[in-house]
Amino acid sequence: MTRLSDFVRGRSMAELYDTYWVPACLDVFAHALAAHVAPGNRVLDLACGTGLVTGYASANAGKSASVIGYDATPDLLDAARRKRYDGADVELIEGFAEDMPFEDASFDVALCNQGLQYVIDREKTFEELKRVLKPGATFHASVWSSAKDQPHFGFLEDALAKHFGPEQKPIHAWSFGGCDELQRLAEGAGFTITRLEKKVLPARFESTQALVDIQLACAGRTDDDGTIAMGIVDLDDVSLLPAIDAFAADVRAALHRFEGENGLAATFASDEISCRA
Ligand SMILES: C[S@@+](CC[C@H](N)C(=O)[O-])C[C@H]1O[C@@H](n2cnc3c(N)ncnc32)[C@H](O)[C@@H]1O
Repeated sequence: MTRLSDFVRGRSMAELYDTYWVPACLDVFAHALAAHVAPGNRVLDLACGTGLVTGYASANAGKSASVIGYDATPDLLDAARRKRYDGADVELIEGFAEDMPFEDASFDVALCNQGLQYVIDREKTFEELKRVLKPGATFHASVWSSAKDQPHFGFLEDALAKHFGPEQKPIHAWSFGGCDELQRLAEGAGFTITRLEKKVLPARFESTQALVDIQLACAGRTDDDGTIAMGIVDLDDVSLLPAIDAFAADVRAALHRFEGENGLAATFASDEISCRA
């Protein structure tokens, strides 16, 4: 057993994701994205994962409405299915963004928080979004900015490459391509863009060590079958221990000025779009 396998302690990707990534940096962006939902809306939460945005959207849409959470990874969807939603009816459906099982013009609003960087065929995904939205309905998405545009955590990309090999760069979650790519895809599918911006919001980890552990044990990567799998290093590989310690030391050195009584407090940057079908 290594320190990292001890950290994971048999917990699933969904459990680790909800325990560490969600409160640290996803929740604030999800909450802001769901503010685009109005009472009564029929909502699509694309790449819903464990149901974070789904929950906020359900609350905002209200009792008489419905929210569909749609995702390709069964384990994450199962976690979403185990949650309770107070508000709109929630249905959780498995499938790929590139091929949605929904009628044309069937949603008032679609949301996607930190999912577009993982889909394999981006153009097809935007075509599908345009198809399933009613004319005039809106799509809102948030995708992490690249390392060079991350105000505080951008160094992680070089540190991972330095200690675990050049193939670690770019960090998958940060590799989307920014507002330019969002604009290209939305305009290519015939959307009218109403907002395109970089948003910087607070991130808080319980400690720098927690960031190191969760980054190594539970960073998402796209597997060959198109679903998301967990982690970027083999948790039980003892030959990696010196590299893991050296990586942790670099992270501590880079971030100690953000550490305080309440853990590690800094910010994450994400590129966002709102557009009309
Ligand atoms: C970082 S998680 C974000 C989950 C959720 N939106 C949130 O805010 O917590 C990325 C999600 O994208 C999903 N995903 C990746 N590729 C996909 C695809 N082609 N179609 C549908 N979902 C996909 C993954 O299964 C995963 O749940």
